[in-house]
Amino acid sequence: MTSSTPSPDPIGGDAALRPKTLAEYVGQHKLKDKLSVYLQAARGRREALDHTLLFGPPGLGKTTLAHIIAYELGVNIRVTSGPAIEKPGDLAAILTNSLEENDVLFIDEIHRLGRVAEEHLYPAMEDFKLDIVLGQGPAARTIELPLPRFTLVGATTRPGLITAPMRSRFGIIEHLEYYTPQDIATNLLRDARLLGFGLHEDAALEVGSRARGTMRIAKRLLRRVRDYAEVAGETAIGLERAHDALEKLGLDTAGLDERDKKYLEALIHRFAGGPVGVDTLATAISEDGLTLEDVYEPYLIQLGFIKRTPRGRVATAHAYQHLGLPVAGHPDDGLPLFVN
Ligand SMILES: Nc1ncnc2c1ncn2[C@@H]1O[C@H](COP(=O)(O)OP(=O)(O)O)[C@@H](O)[C@H]1O
Ligand SMILES: [Mg+2]
Repeated sequence: MTSSTPSPDPIGGDAALRPKTLAEYVGQHKLKDKLSVYLQAARGRREALDHTLLFGPPGLGKTTLAHIIAYELGVNIRVTSGPAIEKPGDLAAILTNSLEENDVLFIDEIHRLGRVAEEHLYPAMEDFKLDIVLGQGPAARTIELPLPRFTLVGATTRPGLITAPMRSRFGIIEHLEYYTPQDIATNLLRDARLLGFGLHEDAALEVGSRARGTMRIAKRLLRRVRDYAEVAGETAIGLERAHDALEKLGLDTAGLDERDKKYLEALIHRFAGGPVGVDTLATAISEDGLTLEDVYEPYLIQLGFIKRTPRGRVATAHAYQHLGLPVAGHPDDGLPLFVN
């Protein structure tokens, strides 16, 4: 065993490991370059940053970035989520409580905002005012409540579900990209350093290359790899241990896990490679369509293993190759294989 003081394992969960500044935020270079200019300009003018919409698959760092934006602006952040704002009253409570000039309001899963609440959000975003209806029936009247100028940071995994009027009210719309294995390794090495355990660079890279380009997954994998290393009495995580542990976790060289394989095998064996509708496919593997679209598919698409077509999901020749299945007769689509 390496450490003597047992402490709650914080990789992935501990706020102390969350990067606070843009400089500490690994990767996403294009996004960071732009954002640092916008932040500097807003700071210089002592104004709120334009409303910002961040989209991308889960675990890529949207929530983290929202906090960084507030930190870099030197303002407070209020955190809520779409499902928590159902009625206009929920919105009013958040906007009129404790939100100060230039503060950041972070709405996670903003695509799940209630319809009516969303309509009340428009004037709040645009003119920094909120219409509140007092009373009921014929005696009802609307009063206009002024709001501080604030920055709305919205995050979503489903940009397609953001309505056009909502989208048009964001001045900054950016998507987060999957991380390279190198970027992930850099971050894992930083975590290991902060937590005080040994991690070799090649081991970090090995974890990084099987983490589906996703920071949250990488951190989870590293926790498990560390378990194996500690139980084996090793003081530092080396390449071999990482490789071994990842195999035991059922991850293949492309970072696909059992669930991904179940998806691909169902698509290929039960639906002859598609096209098949997402809900039919979801039922076949006892999942729901949304989970397939949000969690399974982005990475499979990134790898070029599946395609979303108007007629449904289709497995590509790369998927057949990866699973060691004959591709004969498969209409090769010529999609480039994602290489690390
Ligand atoms: N670019 C990054 N640099 C360092 N850590 C990151 C980065 N992106 C994400 N993380 C870490 O990965 C985990 C998941 O990030 P999070 O912001 O919760 O993702 P999302 O909100 O997109 O689902 C957190 O522990 C976060 O600190
Ligand atoms: Mg989040």
